Amino acid sequence: LATVVVAIDGPSGSGKSSVSRGVAARLGLRYLDTGAMYRAMTWWMLRHGVDVTDAGQIAAACGKPNLESGTDPDQPKITVDGEDVSAPIRTREVTNAVSAVSAVPEVRARLVAMQREIIGSGGIVVEGRDIGTVVAPEAPVKIFLTASTEARAWRRNAELAPDQATSVAVTRAEIVRRDRLDSSRATSPLAMADDAYELDTTDLTLEQVIDRVVALVHERT
Ligand code: C5P
Repeated sequence: LATVVVAIDGPSGSGKSSVSRGVAARLGLRYLDTGAMYRAMTWWMLRHGVDVTDAGQIAAACGKPNLESGTDPDQPKITVDGEDVSAPIRTREVTNAVSAVSAVPEVRARLVAMQREIIGSGGIVVEGRDIGTVVAPEAPVKIFLTASTEARAWRRNAELAPDQATSVAVTRAEIVRRDRLDSSRATSPLAMADDAYELDTTDLTLEQVIDRVVALVHERT
């Protein structure tokens, strides 16, 4: 297990974060949330007045912020230029801008290089959109989590901080839009790897999903 890489991909609200953290904690592995890195990059762009509809501006600026990703599944933490942004990267403003930033090839090149460095020799659960396809195509365990749009909208809505609260209908529209953008971009879109194990979490509890993934890890290592 010391060298295993567990790749967990899927659309928003499919349960990736809770499942990935649970599996990492259960198996004593590190945990990397690559979505948090794209969010932190987006947060920095918004704060520094970068026009996030302008790919040229995004490409020119994306080398500037200094991102640091923690890998503790019990306390995931991300900092930008030393500031802990774990909470502000979850605002709907960042969420609704992140797909435009993450579609820019220069952003992906920089963050994928950082992700590979953190993965290093393994012992880690990595969640995202392109982990099994691009970041760690050699990962021995690849999971693609899905769930119905309704289930994903309810879950995401329930996770929003009180000052970000909105209706399930608005959250549903926001995740449908984000999935469409993430799946249709030219550079490493959200896609299931050919050798990934697809798991529909709609009717499963978190514990049931963690159990399945842990069993799969044991089977493949
Ligand atoms: O997983 P999360 O919802 O936090 O991801 C936020 C956004 O970051 C996604 O909507 C997507 O645009 C981008 N992302 C990505 N590639 C990854 C992880 C996230 O493009 N590996």
